Amino acid sequence: MAKSVKLENVTKTFTDDQRKSTHAVDHINLHIKEGQFTTLLGPSGCGKTTTLRMIAGFEDLSEGNIFFGDENVKQIPANKRDCTMVFQSYALFPHMTVYDNICYGLRLKKLSKQEIDKRVTPIMDIMNLHVNANRMPNQLSGGQQQRVALARALVMEPGVLLFDEPLSNLDAKLRITMRDEIRRIQKKLGITAVYVTHDQSEAMSLSDQIVVMNAGKIEQVGTPMEIYQQPTSKFVSDFIGTANFLDGKVESQSDDMLTVQTKDTKLDVYQDNALSFREGQPVSIVVRPEAIIIDEQGTEKAKVTKSVFMGHIQEYEVEYGGVSLYAIVADPGGKKTYSAGDEVSVRFSQQSLHVVPAS
Ligand SMILES: Nc1ncnc2c1ncn2[C@@H]1O[C@H](COP(=O)(O)OP(=O)(O)OP(=O)(O)O)[C@@H](O)[C@H]1O
Ligand SMILES: [Mg+2]
Repeated sequence: MAKSVKLENVTKTFTDDQRKSTHAVDHINLHIKEGQFTTLLGPSGCGKTTTLRMIAGFEDLSEGNIFFGDENVKQIPANKRDCTMVFQSYALFPHMTVYDNICYGLRLKKLSKQEIDKRVTPIMDIMNLHVNANRMPNQLSGGQQQRVALARALVMEPGVLLFDEPLSNLDAKLRITMRDEIRRIQKKLGITAVYVTHDQSEAMSLSDQIVVMNAGKIEQVGTPMEIYQQPTSKFVSDFIGTANFLDGKVESQSDDMLTVQTKDTKLDVYQDNALSFREGQPVSIVVRPEAIIIDEQGTEKAKVTKSVFMGHIQEYEVEYGGVSLYAIVADPGGKKTYSAGDEVSVRFSQQSLHVVPAS
C-alpha cells in the first residue's frame, strides 16, 4: 500500500574531527502525498541524498520527525521501514543470477516459492527481463542492470520507493527510455516515489511535485509548471530552465499586476502575488528565452551579437540596454532570421514574464 511521507522540521548536522559543523539539511518541512512522484532537485551538496537517506532510515535525524502515513518512523530501523531504495550504482549482488537478485528480499521475508513467483513474474514482464533471468549481473549492460535493480525494488511492493540519481551512469538516450519506464510503472502501480536528481529535465518529465533545494533548505515546492512559470526566487528561475534577468524597481502594483521600471523601459507584469512586493523594492524580471520576440517593429532597440541555426530553433544573443539577452525562436525555417551585427527590436511576451525579489 502506497504511503504518504511527511517531513517535519527535519535537520541533519554533521560534525567533523575538527568539530566543524555542516548543516546538510536545515529544518525542512515537506508533505508527499501517497501515490505521488516527488523529485528533490538542486545543485551538488544541497542535501538531497542526506534527506533521502533520512527517509530510508540510513541516517539518523539531528532534529525533527518523519512520518509514513500516520506513523512516526524516526525510531524505526531501515530494514523495518516500509520503503526501498534504488541506488545510482545499482548495487546488485555479483554472485547471483538476475532472477535471484530480484527474489532476494522476498526470500529474506520467507515468502513461499509460489508467492515469490506471483510477485516476480509480472514485474519481470513489465521490465522485459525474462530472457536475462539466468545471467549474472556482469553479463548485462548498464541499462539492463538498472532494470534489475528497479525490479528488485518493485517486487518488495514498498509503501515508499526512493531513488538516488538512478540513471546517472547511463547514456543520454537510455536515460530517457528508463525515466519514461520508471514513470510508467510508478503510475501503473500507484507507488509513492521520492527521486533525487540534479538534472532538471529529468525532474520536469518525471514529477508531480518538484522540491528545489539550496544549501540544506527548501527554496520552492510546486508542480513542474509552477516552478518554471512562477519561480519565487532568482535561484529557482536560474536553476530550472534558462533565465535572463532585467533588474529594476517596483514602481506601482495592484492585485495582480506589477509595473517595473528597469534602466531602459517600463514593463507591466501580471502575477498573482503582486501585492507581496512593495513600492520601490528592487526586483528582477525573469525573461525566458522563448519569451523574447525579435523583429524590427518595436521601439526597444537591440543589436544581435550572436545568431546560431540549430535546426528546430534559432539561438540569438542580443545586446539590449547594456544587458546580453539569450533568446530562442522556434521554427526558424519559416521566419526571417537575423545575423550578428543586425539592428533589431525586442519585445517580451507579457504572459511569460515573472517578477522575483532582486536577491
Ligand atoms: N557523512 C558525512 N559527513 C560529513 N558531511 C557530510 C556527510 N554526508 C554529507 N555531508 C555533507 O552534507 C552536505 C550535503 O550532502 P549530500 O550528499 O546530501 O548532497 P547532495 O545534494 O546529494 O549532492 P550531490 O548532488 O553531489 O550528490 C554536503 O556539504 C556534504 O559534504
Ligand atoms: Mg547526492
